[in-house]
Amino acid sequence: MTDPFALFDEWYAQARETEINDSNAMALATADAQGRPSVRMVLLKGHGPDGFIFYTNFEGRKAGDLLANPHAALLFHWKSVRRQIRIEGRVGPVDDATADAYFATRSRDSQLGAWASDQSRPLPSRDAFMDRYEAVRARFEGGPVSRPPHWSGFRLTPERIEFWQDREHRLHERRVFTRQENGWNEGLLYP
Ligand SMILES: Cc1cc2nc3c(=O)[nH]c(=O)nc-3n(C[C@H](O)[C@H](O)[C@H](O)COP(=O)(O)O)c2cc1C
Repeated sequence: MTDPFALFDEWYAQARETEINDSNAMALATADAQGRPSVRMVLLKGHGPDGFIFYTNFEGRKAGDLLANPHAALLFHWKSVRRQIRIEGRVGPVDDATADAYFATRSRDSQLGAWASDQSRPLPSRDAFMDRYEAVRARFEGGPVSRPPHWSGFRLTPERIEFWQDREHRLHERRVFTRQENGWNEGLLYP
């Protein structure tokens, strides 16, 4: 029986070698409380059997969706290897220690950006954003930048993972893993 996380690691390692950039970029699909979907790219910043982690502003649209409806889907498409991975499951916030540890690894500019951005809310002008950035920079001058209370990570715990590999004549290969009480069920799907 294949471990889907080991298979993910194998494919991800290959994608890191072959993608021209952002091999950790994935589409994140959410739906609001009424079931209306939306999708955007985020970066995978941690993964393992516990789940797949990304970081974001908790007052933006995706966070609003996830806090109201904690089901989401992730999609990797690695063009260089003609592969797709689809991951679905429940999402919840990471703990503060995990978010703090990751925030500390970010560049100072990114840390300041997390304070300066009211993600997903209307911005009157680019200058208004730059002014806020400057104000934040001045505020933290000479000291460390703390993690904003509205900035953290979400972890998606997968219930279903599907690996899609392009094959000749459109005879693509689809392997699907579904979480059971004591492990994973593995199967194939018609392409
Ligand atoms: C390649 C790529 C990676 C991105 N990574 C992130 C990310 O890790 N976190 C994030 O909040 N936004 C990221 N963004 C921006 C999001 O796609 C999106 O514009 C923003 O988070 C607002 O989404 P929302 O309005 O649905 O909350 C990324 C965009 C691209 C194109």
